[in-house]
Amino acid sequence: MKILLTGKNGQVGWELNRSLSKLATVFAMDRDQMDLSKPETLGPVIQNIRPDIIINAAAYTAVDKAESESELAMIVNGIAPGVIAEEARKTGAGMIHYSTDYVFDGKTTSPYKEEDLTCPLNVYGKTKLAGEKAVIQVGIPHFILRTGWVYSLRGSNFLLTLQKLAQTKKQIKVVDDQTGSPTWARTIAEGTTQILEQCLKGTTTSQVFTGSGVFHMSCGGETSWFDFANKILELSNLSKDTEVVPIPTIEYPTPAVRPRYSPLSNRKLKQVFHHEMPQWQDALQECLNSALK
Ligand SMILES: NC(=O)c1ccc[n+]([C@@H]2O[C@H](COP(=O)([O-])OP(=O)(O)OC[C@H]3O[C@@H](n4cnc5c(N)ncnc54)[C@H](OP(=O)(O)O)[C@@H]3O)[C@@H](O)[C@H]2O)c1
Repeated sequence: MKILLTGKNGQVGWELNRSLSKLATVFAMDRDQMDLSKPETLGPVIQNIRPDIIINAAAYTAVDKAESESELAMIVNGIAPGVIAEEARKTGAGMIHYSTDYVFDGKTTSPYKEEDLTCPLNVYGKTKLAGEKAVIQVGIPHFILRTGWVYSLRGSNFLLTLQKLAQTKKQIKVVDDQTGSPTWARTIAEGTTQILEQCLKGTTTSQVFTGSGVFHMSCGGETSWFDFANKILELSNLSKDTEVVPIPTIEYPTPAVRPRYSPLSNRKLKQVFHHEMPQWQDALQECLNSALK
């Protein structure tokens, strides 16, 4: 079994490279080996490896920058996934692709289900939705795993930014009117590996991907950025010298508009794969503990 993984140095990609190796031979690619901004170059790489499964963890994830680089974001997030899916079709491979809670507009009060109406508010969300549709349209066996508020001990994310700020600032202002589910990248990788492991009981790729479709995969529970920030400082033993001050989004304007409410319901993941994602507080604690190991 050969798995081709893109975005191996990203938060999720790095964790996937680690957890998938127990299942299959992983061909892990970085941006130099597979550049999604040049979709026309992807085919030969894929056909050379002829993987059984392609996992696309590469993406243009700079939510604010995407507002001014919409063309590039659309190529990487909206067009390249369809090209990869088309190449997967040629080799008979299935595909796992990641998407985002930002495909929703946040105008609700209970966790989003897979079939809820999408209506992205920003360029990043629009390009990710285009990528979902491009993969689905090719008609290969696939899972699209939507997640949100991803953090890890690598890369650039809210957890690391906050810990860094707390080293020098006595006060940090954080928005308290956006709600989501912080999700440790490792829980996404382990969830992906576990569902693949279950599916691999099938013998052909189409059996592997029985039940193709969109699944939500984020940590359980919900919180605001403000409460998330407080929890990070508390668990990092940084709350003594730094105060987190709640502010409304209007006082922290960003180029990209974000949904006010974007937790995802994991019910389908649990029903189909019996996979339970951890609560966000437990995953955060475990992530921080892992730094000490
Ligand atoms: N981060 C979040 O909060 C979040 C939330 C919801 C959904 N997601 C989705 O989850 C998935 C994984 O995200 P993540 O958090 O792991 O993102 P990440 O840490 O930003 O990693 C993205 C990876 O994509 C690579 N990449 C960017 N442009 C590329 C290009 N043109 N060609 C090839 N590779 C390229 C990056 O390469 P370099 O290492 O060279 O920069 C990086 O390795 C993505 O589909 C993302 O949309 C993320």
